[in-house]
Amino acid sequence: MTFLELIQKRYSVRGYKPDPVEEDKLQQVLEAARLAPTAGNRQRFQLIVVHAEGREEELRRIYGRDWFAQSPVVICACRYPMDPARQRKDYTDVDIGIVVDHLILAAAELGLGTCWIGAFDPAAAREVLGLPDEVEPVVFTPLGYPADPPRPKQRKPLSELVRYEHW
Ligand SMILES: Cc1cc2nc3c(=O)[nH]c(=O)nc-3n(C[C@H](O)[C@H](O)[C@H](O)COP(=O)(O)O)c2cc1C
Repeated sequence: MTFLELIQKRYSVRGYKPDPVEEDKLQQVLEAARLAPTAGNRQRFQLIVVHAEGREEELRRIYGRDWFAQSPVVICACRYPMDPARQRKDYTDVDIGIVVDHLILAAAELGLGTCWIGAFDPAAAREVLGLPDEVEPVVFTPLGYPADPPRPKQRKPLSELVRYEHW
């Protein structure tokens, strides 16, 4: 599979089989996240892996869709606050976007489904995951074998997204 085929293949999976995620596949997607570039190579993020079995109610508090709590694994990407002494612009959210995209694409290559979740309840996430005050949950994704079929991609044409040489 080429990279372009992989990004065609990935879609937001909103239905998961109960089959567990093999530990070696979990470690491969985490390794893909670890290798992501970050501004100044600061790596100011943490990933929290939650095995959903027995924690379904807690996960439902974080994000209320059934398919979220039904996936066997949920991963939360968290950020540390910006270090103002070292950075003029705070790129930590950009870093986390790249980290999670690595993770999600590696998962797709392994046949695993994911879905970016930004519309979660941050207070519930803090409580359920026991986050320290200075750590902020940025995005979640379920991780598991897809139980819903891919949909055609809805995207604007390049002509609406790209300008050449000037605005
Ligand atoms: C930062 C971000 C946050 C998102 N938050 C949610 C969410 O809370 N719930 C959800 O179902 N999908 C969420 N999505 C998924 C988008 O709706 C989805 O990526 C988009 O519609 C394109 O569809 P595709 O991923 O299937 O290609 C989010 C995507 C991104 C990038």
